[in-house]
Amino acid sequence: MTTEALYCVVPAAGRGARMGGDLPKQYLPLAGKPLLQHTLERLLGHPRIAGVVVALAAADPYWPALRLPAGKPLLTVTGGSERADSVLAGLHRLLELGVPATQCVLVHDAARPCLRHADITRLIELAVPAGGGLLAVPLRDTLKRADAQQRCIATEPRESRWRAQTPQLFPLGALRAALEAAQRAQCIVTDEAMAMELAGQYPLLVEGSEDNLKVTTPADLVLAEHLLAGSDAGPVWAVGRGAADGAR
Ligand code: CTP
Ligand code: MG
Repeated sequence: MTTEALYCVVPAAGRGARMGGDLPKQYLPLAGKPLLQHTLERLLGHPRIAGVVVALAAADPYWPALRLPAGKPLLTVTGGSERADSVLAGLHRLLELGVPATQCVLVHDAARPCLRHADITRLIELAVPAGGGLLAVPLRDTLKRADAQQRCIATEPRESRWRAQTPQLFPLGALRAALEAAQRAQCIVTDEAMAMELAGQYPLLVEGSEDNLKVTTPADLVLAEHLLAGSDAGPVWAVGRGAADGAR
């Protein structure tokens, strides 16, 4: 089992177009503080996270107002036009800082503020020895294929289908190479695992929690608010999955 602390890159340079509104979604108020502040507190509060590099939009006017925990390195870089460009900017910064290319790094979406500490721990413990992996949840609903009129035309097999989340964890140098190769091929990768798959790797799926949702729409924000409010009773984010969570 590895015990070293790892760096995490947080892409936070998106506009939040599907959320609508003027304020980028990562700065929307959520349970009393900006969404991004929750995400960064979760990460920086975990003992296996050494520090965080956040990729921000150019001239982001909202970042300076965040109140963030001191004590661990928290660096910023300017992100790019696609999520993968923002992640690459963070990886380059880590390499400049002298983080070894063989060391694993995590990448976590700014837009996932409900990440549980137990899931970070499990990802690190399982994905580091596997050479890379990601949090994901097996599909539980029946999956339908639709036609152009939004009618069911088929029921797809549910077995072997997972929904990918973040954090995702890979060796720094290999991930940079895979993302750059995808960029050269003009292939837009929507997560790190996709870049690694294109490079011929088989990232490990590590079962996470359904409530590690990506806040995308206003309804997600309401749900995240409920999840975070529930943490008052006995910090939901700090405990492991319940026994029932593993049931299909
Ligand atoms: N992101 C980024 N740089 C981009 C695009 C996205 O750093 N050029 C970040 C977002 O800030 C977010 C994460 O990647 O934390 C996941 O992306 P997504 O949920 O799609 O966020 P947005 O792209 O901001 O939302 P939308 O697609 O609705 O515009
Ligand atoms: Mg997006």
